[in-house]
Amino acid sequence: MSEVDLRVSKIKDGTVIDHITGGYALDVVKILGITGKEKRVITIAINVPSKQLGSKDIVKIEGRALSSDEVNRIALVAPYASINIIKQYIVVEKLEVKLPQTITEITKCVNPICITNSNEPVVSNFSVESGEPLILKCHYCGYVLEKNDMLAQL
Ligand code: CTP
Ligand code: ZN
Repeated sequence: MSEVDLRVSKIKDGTVIDHITGGYALDVVKILGITGKEKRVITIAINVPSKQLGSKDIVKIEGRALSSDEVNRIALVAPYASINIIKQYIVVEKLEVKLPQTITEITKCVNPICITNSNEPVVSNFSVESGEPLILKCHYCGYVLEKNDMLAQL
């Protein structure tokens, strides 16, 4: 039994997001739109020791699955995260997160004169140029956003 298992208990059914880069669990929770008002049991462990990563965060969401879009959004803040689907206490599936090629909606362009910040009904759209460090490029004006620009908007 690992040190982490001694700190946080196993769940019966739901999703465990493991190997989140230490310190990013709250960003993962925000990117999933979880506010804590959903009446679900959510367990968050931050900066627990990990052999692979030095320190890592874990988020356990009981009674909820994630869509593939949600899984891939997690890669924007936690590129090494693994998703474990739990049924009847057993890990029935393990998924690696995969960086999406484009993202919409999660973040807005920082360039004040970008068309997405005008009164035009244009939805933001970025190409993901790199995952580490995170570089997002606005499809409309070419402005480059970094991880902190995105985190500040979550
Ligand atoms: N887990 C859980 N509840 C369960 C089963 C597993 O919360 N009923 C959690 C474990 O605590 C762990 C993650 O889900 O954080 C993955 O479980 P498992 O595959 O058993 O652990 P490892 O073998 O350590 O995973 P990996 O190889 O991905 O590091
Ligand atoms: Zn722009």
